[in-house]
Amino acid sequence: MYAERVLSGMRPTGALHLGHYHGVLKNWVKLQHEHPCLFFVADWHALTTNYDNPQGIEKAAIDMVIDWLAAGVDPNLATLFIQSKVPEHAELHLLLSMMTPLGWLERVPTYKDQQEKLSNKDLSTYGFLGYPLLQAADILIYRADKVPVGEDQVPHIEFSREIARRFNHLYGREPGFEDKAKEAIKKLGGKKARLYEELRTRFQQDGDKEALEQGKALLNEIQHFSAVDRERLFGFLEGTGKMILAEPGALLTEASKMPGLDGSKMSKSYGNTITMRESEESVAKKIKSMPTDTQRVRRTDPGDPARCPVWQLHQVYSDTACKAWVQQGCKTAGIGCIECKQPVIDGILKEQAPMRERAQMYLDDPVLVKNIIADGNEKARDLARETMRDVREAMGLEYH
Ligand code: TRP
Ligand code: SF4
Repeated sequence: MYAERVLSGMRPTGALHLGHYHGVLKNWVKLQHEHPCLFFVADWHALTTNYDNPQGIEKAAIDMVIDWLAAGVDPNLATLFIQSKVPEHAELHLLLSMMTPLGWLERVPTYKDQQEKLSNKDLSTYGFLGYPLLQAADILIYRADKVPVGEDQVPHIEFSREIARRFNHLYGREPGFEDKAKEAIKKLGGKKARLYEELRTRFQQDGDKEALEQGKALLNEIQHFSAVDRERLFGFLEGTGKMILAEPGALLTEASKMPGLDGSKMSKSYGNTITMRESEESVAKKIKSMPTDTQRVRRTDPGDPARCPVWQLHQVYSDTACKAWVQQGCKTAGIGCIECKQPVIDGILKEQAPMRERAQMYLDDPVLVKNIIADGNEKARDLARETMRDVREAMGLEYH
């Protein structure tokens, strides 16, 4: 059975925090058991906004991979690599740039949004405009079926789909298309394969539109079928047979609900974070200095957890009994805020303990991380090379 290929990337922006852990990394850890996964450091993407200060990128990249490993991403299950170490991304980006209408790029919502948000920087650059196309190349070069991303990135996945479609439309047939389509039919299994063949004949010989629709429905119903094979069989059914790059789907990651130290969403730009590997003393200090219910001025004043950011962290870290203790104790002034904060500190430290432990091994021996990345780079590169052979051939650049 085909397991859909998953790919995702992250820009190296500095130490990851608990919001990244709860919002993104826990999901990656789960996905790595269910799919072949590729996770990469988008270091070229970091340059699109940080071209004036590239010095820190390499260290940030390594630290970020250590954070992934600390979270439980397993290099034996997932392929971890660095974008710039697979230069084929750049080649595909260049080739795709030839056929990408400027208007498509200008219309991607993040383009103007980010320019406004980062107005202290001059982002009217060629590289920044091309950001979504570089991302499309990242995805299409691995023929990824699913791309786990947050809501803000969904337009980029949609853009990647449009690029794949346009490419397939312009550059036509992949080499060996018929054979590959026949292989894919076998994967449908006996009964469905026969039905598919029958519907295809009815459409291609008799022009039976109903059969075409039924054939499409059949393909859409099949689960555990790669995007590449599905596209092939759509093409084979209709007689167009155009399929070189596969259209990826977004795997929407639910927006992180992880609250920060001030009650708003945890985010580096709000300065309200706890990093994944923050020292124990610093965690305790940060929680102890968190604001509480402002209406609870004296220890003897009753408070209301609904007005308190500490309560939000209890909802992430505390069990039912502890939460009942907080509700009751706060509302009756039975407990003080210092007391109330202790279980949160304990909960965070407990969550961080295995992360700290896993990270220590890599901090003690940096060669381990280097090797994991080198190995991942190689694996990714093999896959990327395969796609590039088909792409060059389709574009008449094989020079046999
Ligand atoms: N643009 C993504 C972000 O800012 C990072 C990224 C780059 C990415 N290339 C990708 C994500 C490919 C998924 C797939 O979060
Ligand atoms: Fe917040 Fe707890 Fe203090 Fe109540 S007792 S105000 S919930 S910190």
